[in-house]
Amino acid sequence: MTKVISFISRKGGTGKTTNAINLASVLHSQKRKVLLIETDTNYTVNSLRQLELFKSKSDVANYFHLVASEDEVVAKEIQKLVKNGDYDYIIVDSAGKTTDNGIKELTLTSDLILITTSLNQNDLLVTYQTVQDLKLAQQINSKLKLLVIPNRINSLTSKRTIKHALDELKVDVIDDFVPNRKTFYKASTLRVEKRYKPVAKHIVEYLNK
Ligand SMILES: Nc1ncnc2c1ncn2[C@@H]1O[C@H](COP(=O)(O)OP(=O)(O)OP(=O)(O)O)[C@@H](O)[C@H]1O
Ligand SMILES: [Mg+2]
Repeated sequence: MTKVISFISRKGGTGKTTNAINLASVLHSQKRKVLLIETDTNYTVNSLRQLELFKSKSDVANYFHLVASEDEVVAKEIQKLVKNGDYDYIIVDSAGKTTDNGIKELTLTSDLILITTSLNQNDLLVTYQTVQDLKLAQQINSKLKLLVIPNRINSLTSKRTIKHALDELKVDVIDDFVPNRKTFYKASTLRVEKRYKPVAKHIVEYLNK
């Protein structure tokens, strides 16, 4: 059964693309069949992949599959792909400016929505709003799971501080975090980032719970 994991937030720059790429790479390295769909019309990930393949002269067949789509059609495409059953995981990297309807469609076709956020006040406020909206979506899609991923966290920040900062969201938070690191700042669609492995493990465990 294909599992659909979507990254959604109502704000740009929270780390959706960074996390989507790293999750896809880790799952691919574990021999899972992974498709990453980006709905950001800037085609950031597809451009990065092209550049990386060109520079490294490596074969695209060695990496997770990657396509671009758009808000209006992505849900239908996902339904078809799930039916075909070619993938273990379909990961959707949505754009910060995704429309309300785009978000709604994604919530209806996803098994899990991952909400990335830093701990700064602005991100937390928007995350609160995102979570409220998505909780309403859970009333329509009862199988939908929501999980917050603290991102760009200073490595010295304790798990307790993170938990405390996110307590008010009243939503499940991953029992780990993604540190603020140069390796994540310079995301790659080819390289597997070791620090993301435990994060990916938590995500899969939560999905299968
Ligand atoms: N854990 C991290 N450590 C260091 N830099 C990060 C981390 N996560 C994200 N960044 C950087 O923060 C910026 C925004 O991240 P990213 O592009 O992943 O966000 P996004 O949610 O996809 O944004 P948008 O909504 O515009 O698509 C990028 O420059 C990225 O490299
Ligand atoms: Mg992005």
